[in-house]
This record gives sequence, C-alpha cells and structure tokens, in this order.
Amino acid sequence: MQNFDYQNPTRILFGQGSIAKLAKAVPANARVLLLYGGGSALRNGTLDEVKAALATAGIGHVSEFSGIEPNPTFETLMRAVQQVKAEQIDFLLAVGGGSVIDGTKFVAAAAALPEGEDPWNILLTGGRVVKSALPFGSVLTLPATGSEMNNGGVITKAATHDKLPFSSRCTYPQFSVLDPTKTFTLPKRQVANGVVDAFVHITEQYLTYPANARVQDRFAEGLLRTLVEIGQDAVNKPEDYDTRANLMWTATLALNGLIGAGVPQDWATHMIGHELTALHGIDHARTLAVVLPAVMQVRREEKRAKLLQYAERVWDIRDGSEDARIDQAIERTRAFFESLEVPTRLSAYQLDATAIDPLVAQLEKHGMVKLGEKQDINLETSRHILQAAL
Ligand code: NZQ
Ligand code: ZN
Repeated sequence: MQNFDYQNPTRILFGQGSIAKLAKAVPANARVLLLYGGGSALRNGTLDEVKAALATAGIGHVSEFSGIEPNPTFETLMRAVQQVKAEQIDFLLAVGGGSVIDGTKFVAAAAALPEGEDPWNILLTGGRVVKSALPFGSVLTLPATGSEMNNGGVITKAATHDKLPFSSRCTYPQFSVLDPTKTFTLPKRQVANGVVDAFVHITEQYLTYPANARVQDRFAEGLLRTLVEIGQDAVNKPEDYDTRANLMWTATLALNGLIGAGVPQDWATHMIGHELTALHGIDHARTLAVVLPAVMQVRREEKRAKLLQYAERVWDIRDGSEDARIDQAIERTRAFFESLEVPTRLSAYQLDATAIDPLVAQLEKHGMVKLGEKQDINLETSRHILQAAL
C-alpha cells in the first residue's frame, strides 16, 4: 500500500427529511447565498423546503443565484462572485447536482482570492492558488459526481471550450444533505448518467496495478457490484426509496477519497472525456461510457492483473484464458452501460475518425500529455484510445 494523508471534513446528513437539519447546520448569523441550476429545484419544491429550514433557524439574509448550467461556466459563476461581494455574503449553499456544487466551490474560492489574482488561475493551477474559501454546504439532488463529499470541481470557460479540474483543501463542503426523495424527479437519463459516472470514478481508482491495498480493492469491488445490482431499478423505479438511497451513498463513497487512499489512480478516462464534453457537448457520464471500454482495451497489458481481478470479483468470470476473461469483462462493462441506454461508441454521437485530431490537440493544449497510473499515456496513446472508441 502507498503512503497517504487522508482527511475528509464533510458532515453528511443522510435520509428522508434531512433538509430540516439545515436549521442547525448553517451558522445562525450567516448571510447566505443559495445557488442552484436551471430551475429543477424550484419546480420540485426542494428550494422551498430549504428556505423553510433556513427561516426556522431565523437566518436573516438569504438571497439567490440561479442559472448554473450543466458543465458550469466560468462566465456564469463570475456573476455569482460579484453578487457575493456586493451583498457581503459569508456562507454559500448549493442546491443541485454536481454542476451546482462544483460551481459553488469555484465561487467560494474565487470570492476569497486576493485582489488582482485572475480567478481563471484557479483552473490553470489546478487549485494551487486557492489559499482560503468561503464556507459552504450542499443539498444534493443528483447522485453521480461525489462532489458533495470531495474537494474537487470542474469548470468550463465557454468562450474557449476549456474544461478544467481544480481541487483544494479549502473546498470541501462543510456539510451535505443527502435526501434520496429529492432524486425522485430526475429524468431517467440523468439517473443513468449518475450510475455510469460513479462506476467510472471507482474504476479509475481501482483498475491500475496491484498495490496490495486489500480493503480499498474489496471496497471498490463492493461499490461496483452494488451499482450493477441496483442500476436497472435506480433508473426504472424512480420512487423506490431504498434503491435511490443505495445509489446516493454509493456515488458519494465512490469519490470521497476513501477508496483512492493508498492506491495508484488513473484519471485518463475523465481527462479525455472532458475534451469530448468541451468540444461536442456530450454529457459528462456519457463521455466516460465511451472512453472507459477503450481504455481497458488499449491498456490491457499495463492493467492485466487488475483487469483479471475485476473480471473475477465484479463479474464472476473465472473460465477461459486470461485474454478471454479480459475480453469478457470489457464486454460486460459495455453491456452494462448500454443496458442503461448509455452508448459506448463515438459513432452514437455521429463522431468519426475526423473528430480525433481536434480532441488530441485539446489534450495537448491542456497539458494532458502524461496521463494514467504511471503517467505513460501520452498523446499517441490517447489517440489510440479514441480510435478504439469509434
Ligand atoms: O439545472 P437544473 O434545472 O437543476 O437541472 C439539472 C441538470 O439539467 C438536472 N437535475 C438535477 N437534479 C435534479 C434534476 N432534474 C430533476 N430533478 C432533480 N432532482 O440534472 C441535470 C444535470 O445536472 P448536473 O449537475 O450537470 O449533473 P451531474 O451531477 O452529473 O454533474 C456533472 C458535472 O460534474 C462534474 C462534471 O464534469 C460535470 O460538469 N464532475 C465533478 C466531479 C467532482 N466535483 O468531483 C467529478 C465528476 O467526475 C465530474 O467530472
Ligand atoms: Zn465523473
């Protein structure tokens, strides 16, 4: 096992009715800005429930910022930063999915930057310029990203199609409310996206090379098997509380740092996927469903031991030669995503070989030239991965 330094300060308030607990979680004298997306939280009553909880606590100043879009943009978020400064806001509360929570993390960090520091540097430095941030919490409405219990965010500059990640020890939510009933109004497509996103977060911390990290491996395998077990019901039975509860907690555990502590990680699928979203507007999780099977195929030698472990422990594949077992594991992964109506080929998005050069150029522009658990996925390997995804 590798050395690690792990601390996760986010308090989780889990279960039906938990929004009422905001009354105690938000500081009593705070000046609060509620941040949300395109209106789902308004339409399904979640926002009203949040406001009622804050009113119970007697919180004096509560204002709103709406319109944080999926794949949140720098341009929109900078308007929120202005509002924070103009209204002397000192606590942010995100109500939404990964995009709203990521956006809120950026606003929290950007509002606390020293005068004169360009907020885009938060992305250009991967978060290294962030030395402090406003405190914030979240009310999660879409189980997928894990943003509710981690310190990362992904922000897009719309003007230049740059979609870049950042993280900082200052951008963990203080708390997150996870009420599974708040997911009941999700469109099927978003639930399927959430299952796939969580699945790929787990594989990116698991499908590398053996590190003799037994509990991290078993934990990852348990989370993967849970997603396979509940995937169909999660999508097709919107009001099945227990299924949604299991999805919500699985997605949180998939990316709260626990399974990634002490093990090698490979975020190539995400980094290549971000370019597909930035250039072609494909939903985040849908890019991953296209790229992951191709990564498994192209990197099968480097990942051989873990792919065999994955085949056996996640898919119960025990018979046949090593290569046959790996082929089957890749096929089962593909079939699982497709069963959720999430395509696994670029051709499903009318993209062909002519799409590859611009994607590789974007990776180069963003410095994504040494990806993978051994930093040996260069631009040529990324090109092969994209070719295998056609
Ligand atoms: O904007 P509204 O109207 O709220 O609608 C949203 C949005 O259109 C809707 N929605 C959310 N909750 C709903 C709902 N509709 C009905 N009922 C509800 N309860 O769902 C749509 C998608 O929302 P979004 O937040 O964009 O989805 P998701 O949670 O999948 O987040 C994706 C973003 O997270 C980033 C991705 O890159 C992408 O930008 N990621 C963040 C990570 C992190 N912070 O650790 C890791 C991930 O790998 C990911 O990269
Ligand atoms: Zn993701």
